[in-house]
Amino acid sequence: MPTRRDFIKVAAGTAVGTSMCAVLAEDVFAMTEQDTFEQDSFEQDSFEQDSFEQDSSKIPSHAAFGLDGLHGEAAKKKMFFGSATSENRIITDIPYRTALVRESGIIVPEYEMKWDIMRPSATTYNFADADFMINFARQNGLAVRGHTLCWHRALPSWFASTANSRNAAQLLTEHIATVCGRYKGRIHSWDVVNEAIEPTDRQTNGLRNSPWFRLLGESYIETAFRAAHQADPASLLVYNEYGVEFDDMQRSDAILNLLRRLKARNVPLHALGVQGHIRAADKAKFAANMQRFRTFLRDVAALGLSIIITELDCDDTALASNITARDEGVGGMYGDYCSVVMNEPAVIGIITWGLTDKYTSLNSTNPRADRLPQRPLPLDANMVRKNAWYALEYWFKNTTQRPRQTITSVAEERIAPTHRLRCVPHTHRSECAIQFTLERSEDVLLRLVDVRGQDVQILAQTRLEAGEHHVVLNYAPFPAGVYFCILQSPSFLVSEKILLQK
Ligand code: G3I
Repeated sequence: MPTRRDFIKVAAGTAVGTSMCAVLAEDVFAMTEQDTFEQDSFEQDSFEQDSFEQDSSKIPSHAAFGLDGLHGEAAKKKMFFGSATSENRIITDIPYRTALVRESGIIVPEYEMKWDIMRPSATTYNFADADFMINFARQNGLAVRGHTLCWHRALPSWFASTANSRNAAQLLTEHIATVCGRYKGRIHSWDVVNEAIEPTDRQTNGLRNSPWFRLLGESYIETAFRAAHQADPASLLVYNEYGVEFDDMQRSDAILNLLRRLKARNVPLHALGVQGHIRAADKAKFAANMQRFRTFLRDVAALGLSIIITELDCDDTALASNITARDEGVGGMYGDYCSVVMNEPAVIGIITWGLTDKYTSLNSTNPRADRLPQRPLPLDANMVRKNAWYALEYWFKNTTQRPRQTITSVAEERIAPTHRLRCVPHTHRSECAIQFTLERSEDVLLRLVDVRGQDVQILAQTRLEAGEHHVVLNYAPFPAGVYFCILQSPSFLVSEKILLQK
């Protein structure tokens, strides 16, 4: 399995026709890490300028080279959409990576910022994986959620034998100060404490009998939030929880009362994360509790807190095997869920716990009886949009605009890319001028892929010198749709979205 550090050199090919041309603004989808790609056999076509065609009927009405994913719709209402992801998927799966950048405005590492990955020992840190996620996000204009600074799960093997009532507070505050300090200014929001409530544990205030609670009492929660705020004052600090959608009043009341106690003590708490792990089996129960869920969200908002749906997915194990029926059932649950959360103005964004069924963790935690893979997410395993995607799109289109921008346009933060790529359509021919700049001589691969990331045409695979380059793409043979022009080398990958309408 290729890793971040493996890459295959692009075989030298014949030179591609190049000419000096102005490089226009970039639309960057770049990997700062060395990317991996397979060698394709390649026939060098001449990119001679064709004779000028006067037949205006062939001129496609080019839509803007723009964003057409869920975040594009969310951002119109000053909300955001994104999904959980992981380093390995980003590195190894180009169709997935293409879909992730197309659909998302924000990502959350599913593993890379948890203690069991980040803390190999009580005195050492592994930042490599989280650094990769931060760099990938910044190079691709994505914001990042941090997940999670304090949780009873995903604790490293040394924790139980090392942490005690004397050192636990220092372990917690040093971890948070170090991690939040390293990523200061780069984290949109931190899940500071995750899942601290569990009424069935029969502890005071319905708190979970977690290692942190046993070692420090309820005060660990305030300690964590204050440490995070001190280390990164700009980050939105979130308490993240599940199970607030139904009639489990013990749980909802315990969560609400915890939030009230924290706010009463002026703890720097800014939002509640509602995980949103819903189940198709609960459709009737959800419908029967919609008003109570609305009231809960309103009560949270009344504390001055924002709300983020942080881990939305829909378990389909209760649905029959038929894929169409399952997608309809899951999509219906997404619609029911959105009909509540989208109508609460305090809800500022939706994150799904994965973007595609290909990578849902539900298949390992809750496998279907028929052993078929679950279908809980907006895209199927081939990155094709499903009923759930259209339900989210409908509700982003039909919700009210939020009062303020809840996610800084990461494009403005985008660091100046070292490689720029721009596709400019000819107004009189079915051609795009693909212009790009190389900072140094590179073995490059320039190709057109379809919306699923499948190769449509290899445009260049050769070594090119530093400077500006220009390749003409004749798109007459291609059907209308979304394409991505990808320029990559062993050291970077950039892409430009192209929406062909004919
Ligand atoms: O990578 C190792 C692999 O090398 C090893 O062979 C294998 C067997 O031990 O474990 C693999 O790590 C697993 C990891 O997922 C990657 O697959 C861990 O054991 C497993 O515990 C971990 O589960 C994740 C879980 O959080 C704990 O971190 C789930 O995928 C992830 O979806 C889940 O996400 C949580 C949120 O963080 C909080 N809210 C609930 C949500 C779902 O449970």
